Amino acid sequence: MNPEVVTIGLGYIGLPTSALIASHGTKVLGVDINQSVVDTINQGKIHIVEPDLDQIVSKAVSNGFFKASTKANSADVYLIVVPTPFKGNHEPDISFVEAATKGIIPLLKKGDLYIIESTSPIGTTDKMQKLILASRPELEDAIHIAYCPERVLPGNVMHELVENDRVIGGVDEAATQKAISFYRKYVKGELHGTNARTAEMCKLVENSSRDSQIAFANELSLICDKADINVWELINLANKHPRVNILQPGCGVGGHCIAVDPYFIVSDYPAESKMIGTAREVNNYKSFWCAEKIQNEKLQFELKHGRKPKTALMGLAFKPNIDDLRESPAVFIAEKVKRSYPEDMVYFVEPNIKTHRSFKISTWEEAKNKSDICFILVGHKEFKINLPDNYITFVQLD
Ligand SMILES: NC(=O)c1ccc[n+]([C@@H]2O[C@H](COP(=O)([O-])OP(=O)(O)OC[C@H]3O[C@@H](n4cnc5c(N)ncnc54)[C@H](O)[C@@H]3O)[C@@H](O)[C@H]2O)c1
Repeated sequence: MNPEVVTIGLGYIGLPTSALIASHGTKVLGVDINQSVVDTINQGKIHIVEPDLDQIVSKAVSNGFFKASTKANSADVYLIVVPTPFKGNHEPDISFVEAATKGIIPLLKKGDLYIIESTSPIGTTDKMQKLILASRPELEDAIHIAYCPERVLPGNVMHELVENDRVIGGVDEAATQKAISFYRKYVKGELHGTNARTAEMCKLVENSSRDSQIAFANELSLICDKADINVWELINLANKHPRVNILQPGCGVGGHCIAVDPYFIVSDYPAESKMIGTAREVNNYKSFWCAEKIQNEKLQFELKHGRKPKTALMGLAFKPNIDDLRESPAVFIAEKVKRSYPEDMVYFVEPNIKTHRSFKISTWEEAKNKSDICFILVGHKEFKINLPDNYITFVQLD
């Protein structure tokens, strides 16, 4: 296959993006270091849960527009869609972006377009430009380098990839325009041109804004618990104000984006980002608080009934109706509960996965029927029907 586009990284973002581009009749080679991901895709199947994606991948593979490989080929456009986690001290880890970039440097030729989609700390695109030009100085002013963050909602990715507006920042105006004309073929949303640093910051700010707003709701839930006020009712009433829109509290904040990206700002600008950093602390504390609350409820039960309760922890994903457990506050809570009293009977329920390395996964029915207390950690649709009487929820269910 002579691909027009090479996508590096075939995960939650790279695979749907590749499939979308291929579905428009553009030849796409998707590259991933994980052989089993590559094999699954080449069979026309997918390794993640995402509505509608399986049919699009299956069709694109069978009609020859999409192929996966562990090795990149020469193309006209390169998209970098690899993970950007943080290190132990919440510092951004761009080593995957570096490795992916190094892998394609020998393939680059005059006129090519190189785009980073991975969420990245400010200055990453400039760094990758330096990395490329250090070994290929002849490509200075000859290739186009840009940054275009992804802002899709897992569970609605195929729709949002097309409909959402995109922010596109090149290292120079020519790169911005080249990247805009590339995305215009696949995206119906507006394409907003800027520079690379602003585009990088824009993605981080979007998620920091969400994190801060959720922190406000989580903080309210802690105050309300102490003040004996129903937080759900309170927020509903406060939101009747025409200019107030408080979000819902939960058992923390998780996922690969909102729980991670604010640290990319705090790590580089600690003195200036006090509020962003505090929001992270509040949301992390909420998970700790939920785990403590579960232990307290268990103790209360034991005091009342003279035996330890069987408990059910409902949901492990970082948000409703997905199988993504990354940075999940529910997993943090479940691990803390399991660690505190390893001998206690706890049913762990997550309808979107079959197995987990730390928890034996039970069905909703088994957990509901056998447990004395059900703690709802995630508002999955399965949990909203036939709730037992003995449940305590950390999320709104209606
Ligand atoms: N998942 C989301 O909802 C979401 C939303 C917006 C932005 N993002 C950002 O998009 C980026 C990708 O996220 P994701 O959720 O798709 O990650 P993911 O972990 O689902 O997938 C990344 C893939 O990249 C592969 N990979 C790692 N290093 C590689 C390399 N050197 N060469 C080839 N493949 C390599 C991994 O094997 C994996 O399959 C991250 O920066 C993330 O922050 C994610």
